[in-house]
Amino acid sequence: MKLAALAWVVATSAQAADAIRPGVDYHSFANVDEFRVRHVALDLAVSFREKQLSGHADLTVHRQSPAARALVLDTRDLDIRSVSLLNNDSGSTPLVFKLGEEQKYLGKPLRIEMPAGTADSIVRIEYRSRPQASGLQWLTPAQTDGKKHPYLFSQSESIHARSWIPLQDSPQVRVTYSATIHAPDGLVAVMSAAHGPVGARPDAKGLTAYRFEMKQAIPSYLIAIAVGDIEFRAIGERTGVYAEPGVLDAAASEFADLERMVAACEKLFGPYRWGRYDLLILPPSAPYGGMENPRLSFITPTVIAGDKSLVALIAHELAHSWSGNLVTNATWRDFWLNEGFTVYLERRIVEALYGERRERMEDALGLQSLRRDLADLDPAHQQLALDLRNEDPDDGVTEVAYEKGKLFLQFLESRFGRDEVQAFLRGYFEHFAFPSIHTEQFLDYLRANLLAQKPGAVTAQQVQEWVYGPGIPALAVLPPQDVFKPIDGAREAWVAGSLATASLPARSWSTQEWLHFLDNLPQAVRGERLAELDKTFTLSKARNAEIALSWYRNTIRNDYAPAFPDIERYLTSIGRRKLVRPLYEELMKTPKGAAFARAVYARARAGYHPITVTSIDAIVSPQR
Ligand code: BES
Ligand code: ZN
Repeated sequence: MKLAALAWVVATSAQAADAIRPGVDYHSFANVDEFRVRHVALDLAVSFREKQLSGHADLTVHRQSPAARALVLDTRDLDIRSVSLLNNDSGSTPLVFKLGEEQKYLGKPLRIEMPAGTADSIVRIEYRSRPQASGLQWLTPAQTDGKKHPYLFSQSESIHARSWIPLQDSPQVRVTYSATIHAPDGLVAVMSAAHGPVGARPDAKGLTAYRFEMKQAIPSYLIAIAVGDIEFRAIGERTGVYAEPGVLDAAASEFADLERMVAACEKLFGPYRWGRYDLLILPPSAPYGGMENPRLSFITPTVIAGDKSLVALIAHELAHSWSGNLVTNATWRDFWLNEGFTVYLERRIVEALYGERRERMEDALGLQSLRRDLADLDPAHQQLALDLRNEDPDDGVTEVAYEKGKLFLQFLESRFGRDEVQAFLRGYFEHFAFPSIHTEQFLDYLRANLLAQKPGAVTAQQVQEWVYGPGIPALAVLPPQDVFKPIDGAREAWVAGSLATASLPARSWSTQEWLHFLDNLPQAVRGERLAELDKTFTLSKARNAEIALSWYRNTIRNDYAPAFPDIERYLTSIGRRKLVRPLYEELMKTPKGAAFARAVYARARAGYHPITVTSIDAIVSPQR
């Protein structure tokens, strides 16, 4: 008894030593308790030849504690030319600075010695980015739709802003920003901000200046830029789409519902607080499906399916304008506060615009994909609140944050009612608009503002299980799978051989129904049956990128050779991590598949975004 008690004390104190502390950002060097950056003013020239941004960042810095001496910023692969303090008389004083040791995943701290005294100061950092900047992709003309002009775009989430701007790269620090971007003549620059008047004529260096201003305080991961042959088309009064000229028509018609989506979301969750909502359609190498950069979501062209069937992704990025951009996760441990809530909002928008049946299908597919992810995750990574210390936060991106997070809100809905949860969320967005919060701050707010309404409806222990436990809690209210009954019936009959391929009622299937059919085929299907499916429905050439992915998984599993040239085309023409990673993973399971994967990757790698490269390197490891 005594011994056991002692063992417990030892165990807990050992744990306490390295217990994770809520609200502490383990993915930033910034000493945010000593100094806070409040505003970032950028002046950057874009050089495609050198694949570099160069110029300066003026950081308005507030001293939080009088004793604070050094300002520590995050950087990765930046060359720092000088650091100085801007004086009121428009002169400047050089400051002593030092780049520290490179740390895995995090980059290097930039330590700047600050003069004693003043509470607020402006620090100018002259710098340039490197061609390998993890948050930028520099595309050659050949990698664009138009093939004539180069293209640049950023992806700052999770911790890549530091690879193109020296700053406090932590989501608990919010800044306003302004920027002057000097872009090569003929190219257009856009940012996640309002744009000012555009410099009409190129300067002596042949660069045209673009002015941007973001007046609302945002976390660094939402600072974004793109430069290319970009045009704009209005959709509604405060919505529109930016894209390369050749993509503009298709994009505008695919996303024609954009204005209605904003209105639907406002009706559910309160006013849209960012002014305009536009989309930027990126080239196909974009590493994510979408990125919720404020006022201007960055979107993969792989959602342009021709039939609006993948627009839930737009609803998702739009929903982040509330969950994520207004109320922001304080650290990457709290990522589920961004994504789980956003999936919940996304489904509500889908339901409002496209009906309950469509929403149920998305829910059901979401659950399936959560289960697939859970099967490969160790228990520690199955929690909503994640311990990502000594890990790349980009690796914490799994369906746990998304679909399990959403299931938690659905569980609350089942106990309190939809209207109550909706009212609660409106209040939550209102209450926490603009600060960043961590998991436990949310839980406190939840207890006071929802759980307390009906004592006993949800216990503390249940909340504990949802947030800190592995897997899907037994008390989860799972989305019914019965919307897919007819598809299951068809599949079973087809598998059993009692339904001929030509008799499958698939001509009328939606994308979601196709996905359910293909995702749930038996592991082993004979080659001639796959050939029949392929011949009847031209699946290897599917235009819909999600259907193609699901089909290719089946063909790889069953070594269906006729699909391989198309898989190669797919893997070399798009770079969205969620679409290419599963195929490499599936291929690496057999020696023959692995050889194919290596050969394809050797050709594809140069065209992938650095973030996708990091993920695929870990799977294919061409060095080995
Ligand atoms: N914010 C994420 C993208 C992201 C997450 C970038 C983590 C970097 C680190 C974005 O909102 C997102 O979730 N995109 C999804 C689409 C969505 C419909 C699930 C994607 O890219 O697939
Ligand atoms: Zn998201």
